[in-house]
Amino acid sequence: MSEKIAVGVLGATGTVGQQFVTQLQGHPWFDLAWLGASARSAGKRYADAAHWNQDGSAPASVADMTVQEAKPAAGAPRLMFSAMDASAAGAIEQAFARAGHFVVSNARNHRMLPDVPLLVPEINADHLGILAAQRKNRGRPGAIVTNPNCSTIALALGLAPLKRFGIEKVMVTTMQAISGAGYPGLPAMDIVANAIPYIGGEEEKIEAETQKILGDFVDGEIRPLPAVVSAHCNRVQTIDGHLESVSVALAQKPGVDALIRAFQDFRGIPQEKNLPTAPARPVHWLPELDRPQPRRDAMSENGMAASVGRVRECPVLDYKFVVLAHNTIRGAAGAAVLNAELLHAEGLLTP
Ligand SMILES: NC(=O)c1ccc[n+]([C@@H]2O[C@H](COP(=O)([O-])OP(=O)(O)OC[C@H]3O[C@@H](n4cnc5c(N)ncnc54)[C@H](OP(=O)(O)O)[C@@H]3O)[C@@H](O)[C@H]2O)c1
Repeated sequence: MSEKIAVGVLGATGTVGQQFVTQLQGHPWFDLAWLGASARSAGKRYADAAHWNQDGSAPASVADMTVQEAKPAAGAPRLMFSAMDASAAGAIEQAFARAGHFVVSNARNHRMLPDVPLLVPEINADHLGILAAQRKNRGRPGAIVTNPNCSTIALALGLAPLKRFGIEKVMVTTMQAISGAGYPGLPAMDIVANAIPYIGGEEEKIEAETQKILGDFVDGEIRPLPAVVSAHCNRVQTIDGHLESVSVALAQKPGVDALIRAFQDFRGIPQEKNLPTAPARPVHWLPELDRPQPRRDAMSENGMAASVGRVRECPVLDYKFVVLAHNTIRGAAGAAVLNAELLHAEGLLTP
């Protein structure tokens, strides 16, 4: 590729925004050229506006960049990643799309709209077919593509290899890391030496998003997977990586060994096309009885691979297993970068 594509990040100062900054360092296709955030940060040096909460300091290539107001304006790149708080993302992402930008978003606001793809490239790359309808319905040159909630994507990657066996019912209990709540997130007095059995709106998101992601694109529309999903969501005091215990009822009963093979063999379009940040294997099956674990496994394949373990029979539904994915990489910034890579590889970023 000769010239890199300029990209911007909306919400660049937050937890996921910083992960975008990190993921885009040295990217072979994309050049991080623009940073946007709220009026509180606009006009400041990035290093002063962002309370850097990743290892080390803000990269030198962005530290002195001036944070812009999150408004479509001259100089803003066509391709925009969004890591804005949901209270702001709805209107601002629409404004960018109306102005002709391609918004690849992490925020929840547009995920469930019928004409917006909720993309996991290994699972539902064909859902991009809905973009034609989005542009036509809304009469605008720009577009919005979303990635799932951070806990949903772990579940979806754990379930996708089993789709061929006919998923009928799913029960999931999450143990979600502190970084999932953004910065500053939860008060230390609430979370240290504790677990909190409630994350507002999370259970509903997992239940609905999973059906959409695993649905089929038929006759120009996304038809949700007709499986019931029930979620219990808990915040625990790990830093990164959402761990989830899953039970599943399947139409076929292929046996534990067939499930393990399905996890091991699972690949998708990003692997076929060798996209720059695609993991070689999107799902890693771990045979050890006490894995996956957030501290040991969340960074599998640079945080882009989900890990599955403890596959066994379930006396209530048919089978059960544990799945883990890094919430700010595979569950947010890394997911969006992979989405943009697929869009580019498919020629969809060109106006
Ligand atoms: N954390 C995760 O694991 C995770 C995973 C998947 C998806 N998400 C989603 O990603 C988004 C960001 O989450 P986060 O955890 O990074 O949150 P965060 O740390 O609270 O960061 C929020 C970002 O939004 C910006 N923002 C707030 N109000 C704004 C406004 N009116 N206009 C423009 N920008 C505004 C903030 O800018 P200032 O610094 O200027 O206030 C900041 O950059 C949310 O929609 C969240 O639901 C998060």
